Amino acid sequence: MSKVALVTGGTGGIGNAICKRLADDGYRVVTTYFEPEEQARAWQKKQDYEVTIYPCDVSSYDDCAKLKQAVEADVGPVDILVNCAGITRDATFKKITPAHWSAVIKTNLDSIFNVSHQFVNQMAERGYGRVVNISSVNGQKGQFGQSNYSAAKAGVHGFTMALAQEVARKGVTVNTLSPGYIGTEMVMAIPEDVRNKIVAQIPVGRLGKPEEMAAIVSFLVSDDAAFITGADISANGGQYMS
Ligand code: CAA
Repeated sequence: MSKVALVTGGTGGIGNAICKRLADDGYRVVTTYFEPEEQARAWQKKQDYEVTIYPCDVSSYDDCAKLKQAVEADVGPVDILVNCAGITRDATFKKITPAHWSAVIKTNLDSIFNVSHQFVNQMAERGYGRVVNISSVNGQKGQFGQSNYSAAKAGVHGFTMALAQEVARKGVTVNTLSPGYIGTEMVMAIPEDVRNKIVAQIPVGRLGKPEEMAAIVSFLVSDDAAFITGADISANGGQYMS
């Protein structure tokens, strides 16, 4: 029986690459979507690998509880969880609104608890599990115009380190992957002049590729990575060296 991998936000740039890579690695891949169903089904049809999709607002605990029931009924217990769903609502602190703040905290940070709480305790009971939380270079260094996003993404790694300690003896590893600027729709939405200035600060001189992030996730969830837990893996082209 193939292990089951749940990737939240698989219809997004990095999430899609992670789903594909894990499917290629032989896992049974399921993902969540938040867009209208028709759009998500069209996305699913376009993929050249098998992926099961579920609607889920990861910022809602109740939605995540429903997700657990549906996934377990359809494909069985989850062995691997990749928390990848995330949004940006960039604005300088002068212009940021409470709505910008809470949308990002709920979707990027509360979600990590909401989803993990459904699956991780059972991983520990079964004596095996892998959790990878997708954070960001901007959670490590802060970013102008992202007080909300930087706070949420920094919080993600705090969560990783605490949970990693609680489940370390139960065969479950919990790690953070902190991508830098990757060539996804999210990054391409940054105004071009601003984006060009950011790319100029990346020592390798280019944006990262979603597939490069997926390869790291593939390793972190493998048996070979059993001794890595509570780590924050930076993959940012040298933009920030911590
Ligand atoms: N450092 C210092 N000053 C800066 C600055 C920076 N990094 N960026 C902008 N400024 C200055 C500008 O020069 C400008 O100064 P003046 O008023 O003196 O002219 C002032 O700050 C206002 O800047 P903007 O004109 O850009 O303000 P805006 O309100 O139009 O836009 C913004 C603000 C939306 C934050 C815009 O600057 C922006 O999109 N920045 C990029 C934010 C970013 O990197 N987001 C990442 C998204 S992708 C992602 O999050 C994925 C991931 O994990 C990496």
